[in-house]
Amino acid sequence: MTTDIRTDIRTETASSAAPGRQVSPPEDRHATELAFLAAYDSGPRPPSWRLTPRAVVTFVMGSNGESLQLPESAAAPEGLPRRLVVEQKFVGDRALVERCVVTLAGERGLLLVGEPGTAKSMLSELLSAAVCGTSGLVVQGTAGTTEDQLKYGWNYALLLAQGPTRQALVPSPVLTAMTRGAVARVEEITRCLPEVQDALVSLLSERRIAVPELAGGEDALAHAAPGFTLIATANLRDKGVSEMSAALKRRFNFETVGPIGDLDAETALVRRQAHAAVTRAGAPFQVDDAILEALVTAFRDLRDGRSAEGWEVERPSTVMSTAEAVSVAGSLALAAAYFPGDRDVLSLLPGHLLGVVRKDDPADAARLLGYWDGAVRRRAEQGSATWRTLWDLRSVLES
Ligand SMILES: Nc1ncnc2c1ncn2[C@@H]1O[C@H](COP(=O)(O)OP(=O)(O)OP(=O)(O)O)[C@@H](O)[C@H]1O
Ligand SMILES: [Mg+2]
Repeated sequence: MTTDIRTDIRTETASSAAPGRQVSPPEDRHATELAFLAAYDSGPRPPSWRLTPRAVVTFVMGSNGESLQLPESAAAPEGLPRRLVVEQKFVGDRALVERCVVTLAGERGLLLVGEPGTAKSMLSELLSAAVCGTSGLVVQGTAGTTEDQLKYGWNYALLLAQGPTRQALVPSPVLTAMTRGAVARVEEITRCLPEVQDALVSLLSERRIAVPELAGGEDALAHAAPGFTLIATANLRDKGVSEMSAALKRRFNFETVGPIGDLDAETALVRRQAHAAVTRAGAPFQVDDAILEALVTAFRDLRDGRSAEGWEVERPSTVMSTAEAVSVAGSLALAAAYFPGDRDVLSLLPGHLLGVVRKDDPADAARLLGYWDGAVRRRAEQGSATWRTLWDLRSVLES
């Protein structure tokens, strides 16, 4: 039986995490690129930004395979290459990333919304690593998130010993970002209760946090340093999320991060990221391109409710996200690595699709069967060997 790669692990292409770590944050994984881009583009930057806005976009979108050359005048730290191809990390609309960067340079927060697994969190990490050098000032929003976690708490031992002093105060990642002039991230903000979300309203407009416990005077107000900004994410599918108040919405620019538009681009991304994840797991990546293309095609057909040929497809309620496709591709590779020769890798695909489709509603297995009886059978009849094999495996879906 195959083992599953968990998609909530950032599956970036940089396959080597620092020793002893499963995954390193982008500021570590891409440290060379960040240092290079800081030396490469000496243009104007918003206060305390590490890179220029244009260089931030290049960091996220890559340099289109072009090898960038450091200007002669650029003072490059020891050991930094003078030429570098910047890797594409986010597959998607460049204009979207440019709008995100412009928002971060302005006075509003940035809210990334979209279906699960569309790289909202990944994008927010990349943007903060590029802008302020860390993606670690993050609050994971849940129904249990308290205002303290967005503002500040107390070290109760010190509180008892000293009373409400600066030493006893425990700043939240948001307050730390404010005092440093850095980027704070709030993941899944709509999972927080409305009254907790609204703790951000005054913070985002007045750019300061009152700490009344600190007995008045200058100490009782923490002002945001220039460069402070906030990125939040929210996924549209989550049940039990709390609607954002109009007041809070007005403090954010919304950007919708959609699924990848192009089959080839998505297939290339799935191959790249599954390869990286399997390499990190210490196994070789041996999955044929034809299998990967069939995998991504099936995901897109079921996600869009329409096949590439234009045939109707009943959509399951589970989100057939790119992240999930990366995970299935990784599982196929691991199966090939650890169970060599047991079975043809393609024959494992229906079982994995069934596992994904049943996640939200087990009754959706019937929709996958319907997909088999529709698009898969027709492609098989049109002579495709890959889809013929998949069609012959229909019985797997009846189990
Ligand atoms: N457009 C994309 N470009 C690059 N990677 C992508 C893209 N879409 C999905 N991925 C892959 O899917 C993974 C999941 O992304 P991420 O966790 O950031 O999604 P999310 O939108 O935050 O999902 P959720 O709403 O469930 O939190 C990414 O790490 C990346 O591997
Ligand atoms: Mg996320």
